[in-house]
Amino acid sequence: MKQMPWLAFTIDRGSRIPVFEQICDGIRMRAVKGDLAAGSLLPPTRVFATELGVSRSTVVTAYEQLVAEGYLQSQPGSGYRLCPVGEVELPSEAMTLQSVAPEEKSRQVACFEAGQPDMRLFPYRQWAKTIARICRRNPQQLLEGGRVFGNFELRQAIAAHVSEWRGIEADPNQIIVTAGATDALEICLRFLAKPGEGIGVEDPGYLPLLRFVRAQGLKPIYLRVDEQGATLPVKDKPPKLVALTPSHQFPLGGAMSPERRQEFLRWALQENAWILEDDYDSEFRYAGRPIPALAGFDRLNRTIYIGSLSKIFSNALRLGYAIVPQELLEGFQGSMRASGLKASIMPQQPLAEFITSGEFYRHLRRVRRIYGERRKYLLSRLAEDFADFGVVRDTQAGMQLVFHLKEAFDDRSLTRLATDRGLRLQALSEHAEEAPGCNGLILGFCAFSEEEMEPALAVLKSCLEENRDQVTNSARS
Ligand SMILES: Cc1ncc(COP(=O)(O)O)c(C=O)c1O
Repeated sequence: MKQMPWLAFTIDRGSRIPVFEQICDGIRMRAVKGDLAAGSLLPPTRVFATELGVSRSTVVTAYEQLVAEGYLQSQPGSGYRLCPVGEVELPSEAMTLQSVAPEEKSRQVACFEAGQPDMRLFPYRQWAKTIARICRRNPQQLLEGGRVFGNFELRQAIAAHVSEWRGIEADPNQIIVTAGATDALEICLRFLAKPGEGIGVEDPGYLPLLRFVRAQGLKPIYLRVDEQGATLPVKDKPPKLVALTPSHQFPLGGAMSPERRQEFLRWALQENAWILEDDYDSEFRYAGRPIPALAGFDRLNRTIYIGSLSKIFSNALRLGYAIVPQELLEGFQGSMRASGLKASIMPQQPLAEFITSGEFYRHLRRVRRIYGERRKYLLSRLAEDFADFGVVRDTQAGMQLVFHLKEAFDDRSLTRLATDRGLRLQALSEHAEEAPGCNGLILGFCAFSEEEMEPALAVLKSCLEENRDQVTNSARS
C-alpha cells in the first residue's frame, strides 16, 4: 500500500503549543481541506518521528488523540488510516481543545503538578456523542433519578468495574456515588466518627484528609509508614477508624505488603474498627499484575472501599464512589438523606454508558500507555541527570514520583522558588507531621509530554543548584 507523501510538515519549536498538538493540527487541517483522502495511510510512527526530529511517543500521542477524535482509525499491524471526515458528526473545532484560546490551552497546568490527568487526551468526541444520545433518547436522565446514593446504572457499572479490576464483589446497592474520593472520605468520617475520637491517618499522608479530620474536631493518630506500608496503631490508644492507601501509599508510593494487609484486617476484627481504603489511583499500575484491593480480601466486612473517577477521566468531572459493608447500609442511607448527595447528577448516566460501552476502558488503556512512557522518561532523566541532588524510587504505579532530596536541600524553599519560575511541585515534608526524613519533591508526570518536561527539568535543575547554595550559605552564617 502506498504511503501518503510527507506534505511539508514543519514543527515550530518556539511555539507554546505542544509539539503533539501541532502534529494533530497539521493532520486535521489537511484532512479538512481535502489534502488527505479518506483511507490514506499515515507514515509509521517511527518514520514520522525521525523525520520531524521528535520522540516516537509524541507521534503516538498525536495519532491516538486523532483516533479519539474520530479522524484516524488504528488497525493492528497496518498502522493509522484517515477516516472519511464527512462522517464526523460534530464540528471538530467545537469538540477539541482547539476551541480553547491558545494561552489557555498551553498553560492549563504548570509542569509537574501532581494528580493531574492530561485533558488533551480526553475522548471529547465520544463523550459528546454519549451525551447527545442520552439527550435524544431520554434527557431527563441528565437531571433526575439520583436517588439517595446516585444513578443506579452508574452504580451497576462501578460494581462490574471493581469486580473485574479490583477483585471486589459488591452489590450496586452498596455503592454511593460521590463528588470524588475526597467527598467519599468526608462522608465516611462524618458518619463513622464523633468529635473528640481518634482517627488513624498515615504519616506522611494525604494533607486534605488530615485537614478535614482536624476541622471535624477529630484527633489524628499518626501511623508511621515503613517498607511494608502503614504500620498498625499502637496498642494503648486504638482508634475505631483508620484511613489507608494500601495499593499506592500517598505520597511515598509503595504498596502495602500482603502480611501487613492481613495484620490490619485482623486488627480491625479484634478492635471492631473500620478501615477506609482510599484507592485513589489504583488503575495506574505500569508493570506486573494489579494489586488486589484490601476490600477484596476482606469481602467488605470491615473495609469501606473508596475509588476516584477524577484521575482516570477528569478532575473537573468530580466523581468518585464509596462501597460500604451491608452492615452500615441503613446508617449511611439515613446520613445521606440528611446531608444530600453532593455529586452532580448530570455526568452520571453518560459515565455509566461510557463504562458499559467500553469507551472508558479504551481511554484508560490509552492514557495508561502514554502516562507509562512519560513516567519512564521522567524516571530515567532523574536517575541520569539529577543523581547529585537526590534519588527517585520506582514504585511502578501512580501519577507522580517522589524525588528524595539529599540533606543539602530544603524541599519547602525549593518548591517556592520553583513556583516563582513557573513550575508546580509539592514538598514531601508538607505531607508529613511527625515522620522523620521527609525531604523531597512530588513530581506529577501524566499531564506533560517529554517536550514539555525537557525545559521544565532544566528549570528544576537551576532551582536545585540555587537552593543548595542558599541552604549551604545559611548553615555557614
Ligand atoms: C490519597 C488521595 N486520596 C484522594 C484524592 C482525591 O481524589 P478526588 O480527586 O477523586 O477527590 C487524592 C488526590 O490526589 C489523593 O492523593
